[in-house]
Amino acid sequence: MEIVLRAGDIQRAGQESGFRVDKKGSIDLVTEVDLACERMCRETIAERFPEHDILAEELGGPSGRESSRFRWVFDPLDGTTNYAHGLPIYCSSLALEVDGRAEVAAIYDPTRRELFTAERGEGSYLNGRALRVSQTSTLIDSLLVTGFPYSVHEESGDLVALFGYFLGRARAVRRLGSAALDLCYVAAGRFEGFWEQHLKPWDVAAGALIVAEAGGEVSGMDGAPFDPAAAHLIASNGHVHGEVVDTIAAFREERAKKQKS
Ligand code: IPD
Ligand code: CA
Ligand code: CA
Repeated sequence: MEIVLRAGDIQRAGQESGFRVDKKGSIDLVTEVDLACERMCRETIAERFPEHDILAEELGGPSGRESSRFRWVFDPLDGTTNYAHGLPIYCSSLALEVDGRAEVAAIYDPTRRELFTAERGEGSYLNGRALRVSQTSTLIDSLLVTGFPYSVHEESGDLVALFGYFLGRARAVRRLGSAALDLCYVAAGRFEGFWEQHLKPWDVAAGALIVAEAGGEVSGMDGAPFDPAAAHLIASNGHVHGEVVDTIAAFREERAKKQKS
């Protein structure tokens, strides 16, 4: 909690003072605020738990689990594109994995001062209040959210087609630009479901635990058990999970048929 709250202070200060933006790819940005948050996290963990591993987005370094059973997975700024444009939908996200499984998680949105936390077996909390997923049980009554990877220019076809497929079957579909907040909002009952492909472990490690501990369900795009290294996931309130999985399967089947003919 301390690390994501401090990242939030750095992010708020950056919005006031201004910050440098660099490009990692044609549409993939990194700001000096991403880097400052990650440095702070790495220094804090190194001081308190020098034997633990860290996997974080920007600065590289030891990331395997070969040296320690404990690994911190950190996204210093989730929603960098929003942040760079001054759109106040971003956060930082931290999880501690033990033997490859997230055990504690914290995500902080400094704009709304919303701190989402979870501990395995102990529930999920928003600013200390217990969280519960929504009770909605049908896709047609669901508000969904998704995201697109930075490779979207190269592979927009399928990704946009799937977005359209859900748009025709749910109440509405949003794209907010922060996968970690998308997951927190499923946990808080603001969304019924979220899906995304081409994710990184730091996008989902904390949020997936927060959803599960709020009573939701997390899986791969095919409904198989969630794998934090698998890069794709569905998170939902559990009640609409089957419908989301079936919708993706039906979409893929239709696409495959069309490609053949
Ligand atoms: C991105 C955001 C976005 C998602 C992308 C992520 P970043 O993370 O979570 O919502 O659609 O797939 O890469 O680059 O802002 O940390
Ligand atoms: Ca991210
Ligand atoms: Ca990031």
